Amino acid sequence: MEQLNGRTALVTGGSRGIGRAVALRLAAEGALVAVHYGGNDAAAARTVAEIAESGGRAFAVRARFGETGAVDRLFEGLTTGLADHGADGLDILVNNAGIHSATPIGQLTEEEFERLLAINVSTPVFVIQRALPLLRDGGRIVNMGSAATRIANPLQIGYTVTKAALAALSPSLANELGRRGITVNTVEPGVVLTDMIAHYATVPEAVAGLESITALGRIGEPEDVADVVGFLAGPQGRWVTGQTIDVSGGTYLGPIAAG
Ligand SMILES: NC(=O)c1ccc[n+]([C@@H]2O[C@H](COP(=O)([O-])OP(=O)(O)OC[C@H]3O[C@@H](n4cnc5c(N)ncnc54)[C@H](OP(=O)(O)O)[C@@H]3O)[C@@H](O)[C@H]2O)c1
Repeated sequence: MEQLNGRTALVTGGSRGIGRAVALRLAAEGALVAVHYGGNDAAAARTVAEIAESGGRAFAVRARFGETGAVDRLFEGLTTGLADHGADGLDILVNNAGIHSATPIGQLTEEEFERLLAINVSTPVFVIQRALPLLRDGGRIVNMGSAATRIANPLQIGYTVTKAALAALSPSLANELGRRGITVNTVEPGVVLTDMIAHYATVPEAVAGLESITALGRIGEPEDVADVVGFLAGPQGRWVTGQTIDVSGGTYLGPIAAG
């Protein structure tokens, strides 16, 4: 059964990587999906076409986060796209779009940190604020954090701080929205094979190192994360709220016995 029939979803950064897999998953369950993206028109068009070819419904919305007016443009595109498809209101919001940085504290500039904060924290906060009047009772908010928040890595200091801030949103929002049956959770992936980490994936030693600290012994695929988001977004996720959920295949849990 397609359990999201009649539902609508907005997936930020839905054109590529984890967001693309989430968009495909929600559309396969029957949701009408707004595939948001920042600038890669071809990738967004591919994702929308792929959903349509599988019998799903989706439309693309372009808005470059970090630029003035981006959240306004997102919601203009969203409401227009929903109306074009005979829909209104929102059931599922997945705040997935984000940027990475690999800069140690000594080299982190104010400009880089402000950009990380703007795209990874401020934008999701104001996307949620703007989504609330559209969000129907029983709705779902899923924020894309990172397992980096529990693993010390000097190169990811700026990024880690932004993802920790994002995760801090869930409990308070969950309390505020719970009486309406709306759940709010943060999903924290470990390393996932997407364009974001493509540079690591080409270095065999880096891949082997990541595999060696992961209980399940491999790097994640976007679908590994999308399945968890799909669960939280669907009816079975109704009793999980205010939580941060590690989706890393057990990355860096502790020493792994050799052999
Ligand atoms: N990959 C990992 O190992 C990993 C691990 C933990 C957490 N995460 C988190 O998971 C999320 C998705 O990561 P990913 O690896 O799938 O990333 P990705 O492959 O780089 O895709 C990023 C997506 O976000 C959009 N985006 C990027 N910057 C944007 C901006 N300034 N304005 C609007 N849209 C923008 C991109 O749109 P365009 O196509 O238009 O550029 C694209 O759809 C991020 O929040 C990331 O921090 C990733």
